[in-house]
Amino acid sequence: MRPGGTPRPREAAAPLARPQLRDVHIWELDLRHPPAHAFDLLDSGEQERARRFVFAIDQTRYIAAHGWMRQILGRYLGRAPQDLTFIFGPHGKPALIGRRDDVSLCFNLSHSLDKALLAVSNGMPVGVDIEAIRPDLPDSALAAGVLTEGELDELAQLPPRQQTAVFFSCWTRKEACMKALGLGLALEPKTLHVGMMPARQRVIADEADDFIDVSPLPSPSGHAAALATLGGFGKVLYRQATASGRPD
Ligand SMILES: CC(C)(COP(=O)(O)OP(=O)(O)OC[C@H]1O[C@@H](n2cnc3c(N)ncnc32)[C@H](O)[C@@H]1OP(=O)(O)O)[C@@H](O)C(=O)NCCC(=O)NCCS
Repeated sequence: MRPGGTPRPREAAAPLARPQLRDVHIWELDLRHPPAHAFDLLDSGEQERARRFVFAIDQTRYIAAHGWMRQILGRYLGRAPQDLTFIFGPHGKPALIGRRDDVSLCFNLSHSLDKALLAVSNGMPVGVDIEAIRPDLPDSALAAGVLTEGELDELAQLPPRQQTAVFFSCWTRKEACMKALGLGLALEPKTLHVGMMPARQRVIADEADDFIDVSPLPSPSGHAAALATLGGFGKVLYRQATASGRPD
């Protein structure tokens, strides 16, 4: 866990069955409990990034998130976590490269404070977002900066005590869409209308050939979360990475 130290042997843990076509596996990660020897699982770029964090808590969470991501993806592929190689899209979205099996395993990671979600699918682009709800948001500048005119109207009609939770649900659905497209914040959030209704829906974006299927996800207390896929998704299966150091 501590940066530095002796490299660990490369071992593939017990395999996991890949998601069925169009299904999505959602892994909930508790970043207070990293997998064993998490730092040693990372590649040199990740280790360098981990070393650059100013605050130890951010470093710990980053190492835990990437350690779990590598361990879980490695189990789907029957490979050691250290043996996975990632490439990055023009806006930073990571994807696996290597064997054909590796390339077809799609995933997306999101983290907020001590919680993270990892979405995994079989060949279907996915985006996931989790956010810790901040009771002081949204202020009017933030809302005006990221919501469409229609969403702003819907928000204004809600009782003030509901606005924070509804805004965060909307924001996570919006960001999940932007991440499924691989654009992240390169796509102007104001241009993507997901509405204020916290429900599964189809979203049309000029940037996508297919519709985006987006849905709120059950989330830990005090958080909002959402999943988006290009084209419709099937079943969503939830799994947890356990403190014992191995994913269930
Ligand atoms: C991607 C982005 C939306 C993340 O927002 P966030 O709420 O801060 O972060 P989240 O925790 O939800 O997601 C972060 C993860 O998403 C993934 N990610 C990064 N860029 C992504 C993208 N364009 N699309 C989808 N996923 C992306 C990574 O796994 C990242 O994890 P890491 O930071 O631990 O490596 C935002 O940072 C962004 O748009 N960045 C764009 C940066 C950019 O344009 N870079 C261009 C040169 S690389």
